[in-house]
Amino acid sequence: MHLNSLIPISMLLASVSYASPTRTPKLPVVDLGYERHAAMSYNSSTGVYQFSNIRYAQTPVGDLRFRAPQPPLTNRHEIQNGSQPRTCPQGVPDWQAKAYGPIGAFTSGGKPFTLEAWEQAIRNSSVPPIDFNKGTTEDCLVLDVHVPKKIFKSKCGAPVLVWIHGGGYAFGSKNGYPNPGFVPSGLLEHAKEFSDRGMIFVGLNYRLGALGFLSGQEVQKDGDQNAGLLDQRLALQWVQDNIHLFGGSRDKVTVMGESAGGGSVLLHMTGPPNSTNIKAPFAQAIIQSPALVSNLEVPESGYAGFLSKLNVSSLADARKLSSEAIIRGNAAHLASAPDTTSIHGPVVDSKTAPDTLYRSFKNGAFDKSVRLLTAHNSFEGGFFFDPTVKTEEQLDSWIQKSLPGFTKNDREHLAKDLYPFNASLGDVAQGSRQRAIWGDALIDCTFLTAHEAFGGNSYAYLFDVSPGIHIQDLKYTFNDPTSPAPRPIAQDILQRAIASFTIKGEPVTKSNGTYEAFPTWGSGKSLVRINGDGFSVGTNVVNETRCAWWQSGYELAQ
Ligand SMILES: *[C@@H]1O[C@H](CO)[C@@H](O)[C@H](O)[C@H]1NC(C)=O
Ligand SMILES: *[C@@H]1O[C@H](CO)[C@@H](O)[C@H](O)[C@H]1NC(C)=O
Ligand SMILES: *[C@@H]1O[C@H](CO)[C@@H](O)[C@H](O)[C@H]1NC(C)=O
Ligand SMILES: *[C@@H]1O[C@H](CO)[C@@H](O)[C@H](O)[C@H]1NC(C)=O
Ligand SMILES: *[C@@H]1O[C@H](CO)[C@@H](O)[C@H](O)[C@H]1NC(C)=O
Ligand SMILES: *[C@@H]1O[C@H](CO)[C@@H](O)[C@H](O)[C@H]1NC(C)=O
Ligand SMILES: *[C@@H]1O[C@H](CO)[C@@H](O)[C@H](O)[C@H]1NC(C)=O
Ligand SMILES: *[C@@H]1O[C@H](CO)[C@@H](O)[C@H](O)[C@H]1NC(C)=O
Repeated sequence: MHLNSLIPISMLLASVSYASPTRTPKLPVVDLGYERHAAMSYNSSTGVYQFSNIRYAQTPVGDLRFRAPQPPLTNRHEIQNGSQPRTCPQGVPDWQAKAYGPIGAFTSGGKPFTLEAWEQAIRNSSVPPIDFNKGTTEDCLVLDVHVPKKIFKSKCGAPVLVWIHGGGYAFGSKNGYPNPGFVPSGLLEHAKEFSDRGMIFVGLNYRLGALGFLSGQEVQKDGDQNAGLLDQRLALQWVQDNIHLFGGSRDKVTVMGESAGGGSVLLHMTGPPNSTNIKAPFAQAIIQSPALVSNLEVPESGYAGFLSKLNVSSLADARKLSSEAIIRGNAAHLASAPDTTSIHGPVVDSKTAPDTLYRSFKNGAFDKSVRLLTAHNSFEGGFFFDPTVKTEEQLDSWIQKSLPGFTKNDREHLAKDLYPFNASLGDVAQGSRQRAIWGDALIDCTFLTAHEAFGGNSYAYLFDVSPGIHIQDLKYTFNDPTSPAPRPIAQDILQRAIASFTIKGEPVTKSNGTYEAFPTWGSGKSLVRINGDGFSVGTNVVNETRCAWWQSGYELAQ
C-alpha cells in the first residue's frame, strides 16, 4: 500500500498546513468546477504528481448503457482522490488469450523464433485461467494525469501527451491491464531532453466490447453506436477544457493510440463527407499499429449473440440487468469470438464515424492540419491466424468470419491473386497467408493510408525488434515495472522519438551525442527502422499493390 493512502484527506488540502512526522509532502487539489480532485501521489525522485481516476463522465449504468456518455454531475461536497482502481469491464477472446504464453516466450528473447515453432506453440497453448474482470467496474470513465511539479506550479502551458490504449475494442485499460504496464516514466524522463519542464501525460479509459461498441438497428433506434469512441471524444474534450488547470496547453495536445487506440485516433481525425472545416480535438497524433477493419463491418450476429448470452431479448431489458450480469455476459460472449475477431468494433455511423477511414481520407474529409507520426511493427499478422486452417475452403470460411462483408469474387481474388498459396512454405503456408491478409487488411494498409493522405508530409517508424509482432512495442513505449524491455536500446530510441515529437512536433534520433530529425515520409516513403541494436533510415515495406485493393478494390466490386 502507498503511504499516501494512509494520510487523512484533510492533510491533502493545499490550505492545510503540513505536520512533519510522516514527511509526506502536501498533495495539491485541482478544482474542476464539477468536482475537486487531489493528487494521489508525488514521486520525489522524478518530481511528478499523479492524479488518478479523474471522472470525465457519469457512470454509464442503467438507462445510460449503450448510449453516448454524459458529462459528470456536480459533486463538490468532498474531495476526490481516485484511490479506487478503475478498469472497464472487458472480455478477451479465447483465441487471443491462448497467444499470450507464446507471445511472452518469443518476445522476451528467450526462445529463438521460427514460424514452425511459433505455430506449434500457439497450437499447443491453452487459455490461461485468468479472470480478466477481476476488479473491473462499469464506473470506469476516468482518466489519469501525470504532471511534473515544475509544470504544475508554473502553469506554463506545457505540451500534453494523451494515451488511448488498444485491445481489439474489447479489453485493456489506461494502466495496461491485462497488457504490460503502461507506466510513462521513461517518456516523461526523455521529455526533459527537449524541455526543461518536460510534458504532461494523460491516460484514459473507454467502454469496451458490447458495452462500448454494440451496433445494429436496435442500437441506432434506442441508443448510440460507437459509444466507446464517444467516450474517448468526451475525454479528449475534457483535456481541451481542463488541462490548463494542471499547467498544460490545450493547443499542444498530442494523442497517441496503439492498435484499437490507433484506429480510434484516426477516426477522430475524420468528419462528415464533403465538410470543409473538420477539426480534431488535438494538434498532433502518434498512431501505432492502427487496427481498423477496412470496411468497418462487424459480424451481424454480434447484437443477437450478446443479448442471448445475457438471456434477454431487448436493449431495454439489458439496461435493467445488474452490473455483475452484464460484465459476465459480455466476457462470455467475447471469449467465444471466432478466431482473429473480437466481434464488436467501430461501424460507419453518421454521428461518430461518418465513413470508412479509406473513403474519408480519399475524399479529404479529415483534419489536414494534424501533424502525424505513424508506426507499425514488422510482423503485425503474428498471432492473427487460425491454426486449424489447412485447405482453400477453410481459408475462405476464415476470411468470411474474420473480415465480413466481402463478396465471393472478392474473396477469390484475395486468395488466388493477392495472397496465393506458396507450397514451398510447407506446413506454415496457410498460416502465413492468414497472417499476411490480416496484417495488411487491419493494420499495415491503414498505416499506409494515413501517409498517402498527408501527401508525404508525415513521419513514420517501423518497430523491427524481432519478431516484431503486434503489441510487442508496448513494453518499449512504456516502462512496465514487472517486466523490463529486453532491448533497452530500442526503448531509448522509441521513447525519445515520442517525447521529441510531442514537444517539438518533430521526432528525433540521437547518435554519438548528435540529435537528428526523422526524415519526412516524402516521395521516397522514408521511415526510421528501430531494431534491437539501434536504428537506421529506411523505406516503406508495406505492399502497395495489396493495399490498393484493401483501400478501394472491394468497394468497386460490390
Ligand atoms: C481517498 O478518499 C477515500 C474516500 O474519501 C478515503 O477513504 C481515502 O483514505 C483517501 N485516500 C487518500 C490517499 O487520501
Ligand atoms: C518514482 O519513480 C521512479 C522512476 O520511475 C520509480 O523507480 C520509483 O519506484 C518511483 N517511486 C515511487 C514511490 O513510486
Ligand atoms: C507441442 O506439443 C507437442 C506434443 O505434445 C510437443 O512435442 C512439442 O514439443 C510442443 N511444442 C511446443 C513448441 O511447445
Ligand atoms: C460529396 O460531393 C460529391 C461531389 O460534389 C457528391 O457527388 C457527393 O454526393 C457528396 N456526398 C455527400 C454525402 O454529400
Ligand atoms: C443465462 O442463462 C444461462 C443458463 O441458465 C446461465 O448459465 C447464464 O449464467 C445466464 N447468463 C447471465 C449473464 O445471467
Ligand atoms: C505485392 O503483392 C503482389 C500481389 O500479391 C505481388 O505480386 C508482389 O510481388 C508484391 N510486391 C512485393 C514488393 O512484395
Ligand atoms: C514462397 O516462399 C519462399 C520461401 O519463403 C519465398 O522465397 C518465395 O519468394 C515465395 N514465393 C512467392 C511467390 O511469394
Ligand atoms: C559514432 O562514432 C563512432 C566512433 O567514433 C563512429 O565509428 C561512428 O561512425 C559514429 N556514428 C555516426 C552515426 O556518426
